[in-house]
Amino acid sequence: MAQGAFGSSDAEIDLLVRGMRSGIAVVGFGYIGTVIGAVLADRGWPVTGIDVRQSVVDDINQGKTAVAEPGLSDLVAHSVRNGRLRATTDFSAVAENDFVIVNVGTPLGPDYEPIVDDIKAAAQAVGQHLRPGHVIILKSTVPPDTTETLVRPILEEASGLQAGVDFGLAFCPERLAEGQAIHELTSIPVVVGAVDERSARACATLWRQTLGVDSVIVDDPRTAEMVKLADNLWVDLNVAMANELAKLCDQLGMDALQVIEAANTMPKGGNPVNILRPSMGVGGYCLTKDPWFVNHLGESVGLKLSIPRTSRTVNDTMPAYTYGLLTELLADQGKSIEASRIAVLGIAFKNNTGDCRLTPTKYVVSLLEQSGCQLSVHDPWVAEEEAQTVTSIPLSPDIESAVKDADALVVLAGHREFHKTPLTRLAELAATGCVFLDGRNSFDPAAARAAGFVYKGIGR
Ligand SMILES: NC(=O)c1ccc[n+]([C@@H]2O[C@H](COP(=O)([O-])OP(=O)(O)OC[C@H]3O[C@@H](n4cnc5c(N)ncnc54)[C@H](O)[C@@H]3O)[C@@H](O)[C@H]2O)c1
Repeated sequence: MAQGAFGSSDAEIDLLVRGMRSGIAVVGFGYIGTVIGAVLADRGWPVTGIDVRQSVVDDINQGKTAVAEPGLSDLVAHSVRNGRLRATTDFSAVAENDFVIVNVGTPLGPDYEPIVDDIKAAAQAVGQHLRPGHVIILKSTVPPDTTETLVRPILEEASGLQAGVDFGLAFCPERLAEGQAIHELTSIPVVVGAVDERSARACATLWRQTLGVDSVIVDDPRTAEMVKLADNLWVDLNVAMANELAKLCDQLGMDALQVIEAANTMPKGGNPVNILRPSMGVGGYCLTKDPWFVNHLGESVGLKLSIPRTSRTVNDTMPAYTYGLLTELLADQGKSIEASRIAVLGIAFKNNTGDCRLTPTKYVVSLLEQSGCQLSVHDPWVAEEEAQTVTSIPLSPDIESAVKDADALVVLAGHREFHKTPLTRLAELAATGCVFLDGRNSFDPAAARAAGFVYKGIGR
């Protein structure tokens, strides 16, 4: 009979988790792993982060993290100081922890296929230290069947143990959004797809007692794997629709946000319509790849799907569209881009994060760099090293120096810091008749116009 979380009754697991009488190993301490690990440690659990990158491990053990997520640095510093969070490259730490959460990366390959090499390596290393009673939870975004047909055999062969008999195994997709990750981790229900009922119950108990969230238990891991892809396909397609509506409204001289806000009051299927907001582009580590996972999946079963291609193609047009808007706005002022001074505010892939992975802002910045304009770039969230993945121009240290004498302000990520300087102050610093292109529709058009800017949003 197995010992530990998996081998126990519901009541014993409940007591074990409630009493924090075990530990959690978090394998892959990148963006998601660090958020999960820091929150679980903050909730009182002994957490060991395991990563192959020595620099990540060193940072964590010094109480630091390079992951720029609101509130995360404080959680990491606090949890390391009080001894509840540590990190290592040594997988033998798996042996001491009843729960093992795997969050390694799953990038997109050259033919838009998911690369699962890190998942295989992590499963192999975890399997070598697996003990009866452990519960292994995969959280990386993966194509359906990965848990059952890839991870399970590796774990079983490496450990000599059997999933669903000796140890628990489940897939629980991570559905949080960067920028509000800590809040979402502790508020969104967790979808649980496990290889057996006991694994599912152990996961549900863990999430309830640690994060305070409900679980949605689905039939099996492959269903849970599909849930994550369905969620992200919906988001990407919804934004693509908002972006095409915005282009149409731009041509017709309407405010797309007013249209969307009013359209969203119609109930449909028990909930109101929920059209999301148009923007200068969709980026980041999830929405740029997960629709392609779905497309690849369709091809693997002989289906030619239209939706993932459409959503990706439409959203990929937005950076060039945004650059086109800027050219027109400057031309209306009798100016050309190459003779203008342009201030870009925000280069992260979205508001209130420092993450520049697969950021759509890079395309706009590259077009500006090629145009020969005088360019300044400011982003208070992005570290200098990360910024170099987007632009070779050193970041301006503050918004005022970036904006000084600008013919155009181009907001590519609408960070909350940008709202701290009054618009009237920015207008004073900028050139007269300065264009304000709000690529995230995060400013009030009337306020920007009243301050003296020539304001334009995406679709408004
Ligand atoms: N970033 C997001 O907003 C987000 C949201 C939901 C889901 N996801 C999914 O979560 C997964 C992780 O995403 P992320 O943004 O945290 O990626 P990341 O690249 O920031 O982190 C992955 C970490 O895994 C480590 N790693 C790689 N191979 C390893 C191995 N064999 N053993 C141990 N560690 C290893 C890497 O060094 C890295 O630190 C992906 O599948 C992603 O699609 C991401």
